[in-house]
Amino acid sequence: MVEGSCKQVSHYKIEEKLGEGQFGTVFAGKDLRNGETRAIKMINNSKLQSNQQKQALHREIQIMRNLNHKNIVKLFDDFETIKNQYLILEYCSGGDLSSKKGCGEHQTVKYLRQIISGLKVLQSNQIIHRDLKPANILLSDSSPGADVKLADFGLSRQINAESLAKTYVGTPLYMAPEVMNVRYNKGERYTDRADIWSIGCISYELITGTRPYKADNLNELLYVLKETISSKNFLTPENFSPVCRDFLSKIFILEPQNRISFEELCEHRFISGEVSPIIELESLYQKFEPSSKEEALETADVLYHLAKEVPHPFLFYLKNCMLLESFLDDSQCARAFKLNFAEAKKTKNKTDWESTSTTREILEKAVQLCRSDAHVAPHLLKENYRQALALVNSLPVSNHVLRLKEAISKQIASIM
Ligand code: ADE
Repeated sequence: MVEGSCKQVSHYKIEEKLGEGQFGTVFAGKDLRNGETRAIKMINNSKLQSNQQKQALHREIQIMRNLNHKNIVKLFDDFETIKNQYLILEYCSGGDLSSKKGCGEHQTVKYLRQIISGLKVLQSNQIIHRDLKPANILLSDSSPGADVKLADFGLSRQINAESLAKTYVGTPLYMAPEVMNVRYNKGERYTDRADIWSIGCISYELITGTRPYKADNLNELLYVLKETISSKNFLTPENFSPVCRDFLSKIFILEPQNRISFEELCEHRFISGEVSPIIELESLYQKFEPSSKEEALETADVLYHLAKEVPHPFLFYLKNCMLLESFLDDSQCARAFKLNFAEAKKTKNKTDWESTSTTREILEKAVQLCRSDAHVAPHLLKENYRQALALVNSLPVSNHVLRLKEAISKQIASIM
């Protein structure tokens, strides 16, 4: 075998290149013994700066081989040649979380719960990732329910922190300040709170589609962190629900000792989710079947008004037609049907409605309604919750509805 020119190493066939990371190149490949697709990571020995680092990598690989968790990329095999170290990894065909930026709070929480599950296992093995970012959080496949898998952990730990930041390819935008600059860590070793910072950056980006802060180089980044992050102005009420703002504001704290701990983070309401009214609303809506023409008309009316406020109204109008369809013998329902159908036809071509879902549209509106905090005038805040309540009131009574009503009513009552 001649490395570099050949397409096979050990009993693995190397296929196309999947990506290039800080510590090596990843290829798709096949285990020739069983035909299974694998990801093959090739780490050039020259990237490992000392024998000590090499030994540490081997120790880490030993731990990785014994990790077996659905939220961690599995290491199937490893070996070395004169030039390279090879890791034979579970292949994830769904790409990475970079493609999910801007997916909103609801979906972000789903991802976060899985990331946290994976991190818990790493932590119980004394592994701190230190370089957690969307690009090394993979998806098992491209289905909506794909598993999230942490990749590339362990390797970053072999490089000392300062050189990790300095030799970084690009700017380490997700890296905790204490990893970039020892000034923040008071000479202590990093703790799991370094990964928590990265979780904050990833959450921000998944929710909004934009970065919490931008910088072109390390010096600028350190300046931006000091100026922007300390002010917390970037956590705007327009972009985040109150519970999410609280979550992020406890993460974006420069000094690791003052940052939320991993245990606290797991228990935070944003993650442990006493089910939020918004999420309940979504599941209610999915199950909703009107049993009378009054109910159908009332719901259709609420949806008709919501449709005017969302980016993809087509599905709202269409859903209304479906709600009203069984009651077309009633002249009011027939008129409402006609109106909704006409609106649906008008908006159909203007939107990429096929890529969305009615549920998401409802969710978007519900998020808007329930999203408010102390900076909003109390009467506006109350009005928002009232509108949310009106929406819920249009649904048939069930345990779900009652709980939801109770939750929103509580919020209204808490506003004097
Ligand atoms: N890129 C990096 N690691 C990968 C993996 N395990 N599967 C697919 N693509 C990857």
